Amino acid sequence: MTDWNATLYDNKHKFVSNFGEDLVSFLNPQKGEHVLDVGCGTGDLAYDISKKGATVTGIDAALSMIEVAKEKYPDIHFNVQNGENFYFDPQFHAVFSNAAIHWMKNQQKVIQNCYDVLLPGGRFVAELGGANNIQSIVDAIKEASERLSILYDATLFPWVFPTKKEMAEHLINAGFNIITIEHYERPTPLVGEDGIRNWLEMFSNNMFKNLTNEEKEAIHSECECILRPQLYKENGWVADYWRIRFIAQKP
Ligand code: BEZ
Repeated sequence: MTDWNATLYDNKHKFVSNFGEDLVSFLNPQKGEHVLDVGCGTGDLAYDISKKGATVTGIDAALSMIEVAKEKYPDIHFNVQNGENFYFDPQFHAVFSNAAIHWMKNQQKVIQNCYDVLLPGGRFVAELGGANNIQSIVDAIKEASERLSILYDATLFPWVFPTKKEMAEHLINAGFNIITIEHYERPTPLVGEDGIRNWLEMFSNNMFKNLTNEEKEAIHSECECILRPQLYKENGWVADYWRIRFIAQKP
């Protein structure tokens, strides 16, 4: 499983929850609703949802994230649970998830779990990386490793970026009615001159866990060179994110 540095996440990757604020409007939480946030990270969006008057439960597979979430937002229920294996009695009016499901390998199982915990009529509102997401970064990691002859363990590749068709099939197989589903490009600015290095440090570290620090640093530097012509724009680094966003309903 990926080891998460919750402090780096909050300091340098705030854009994850900033973009998610827009997804909270899409969820449109209502006073009195009970909402489950799957892959809640350090809890910022769970808190935003709770400010609308909903009761929120946040789950995340990473203990380090949940510890920080509990510290920041002591009035919200957070616990360590994995999207592929969580269980609650059906009690939620809505399930919400931002930028988390692409970290989960068995997405059909995740979607089924979300369905199972909803009350009849409940909605599932989520966004995740879709097909083509960060393709230039993925390609650069491979190219850098080949150029430098530094072999990382490719079985540690942590992401699944489904097509719209694949995600729609998962939803329908689970029993959902799809209200809306979109797949679209969303270029995402990374903070600062070291934006791409910070991104690699935060999100791709797990793939390189069998390398020395020097080998990892060399891959980061090579990736930075490979990616600069494509991703360094007038105002800094911009990652090639593609999103899938949907609203689905349990009948
Ligand atoms: C994403 O939100 O698309 C993403 C973030 C980190 C790593 C991979 C994908």
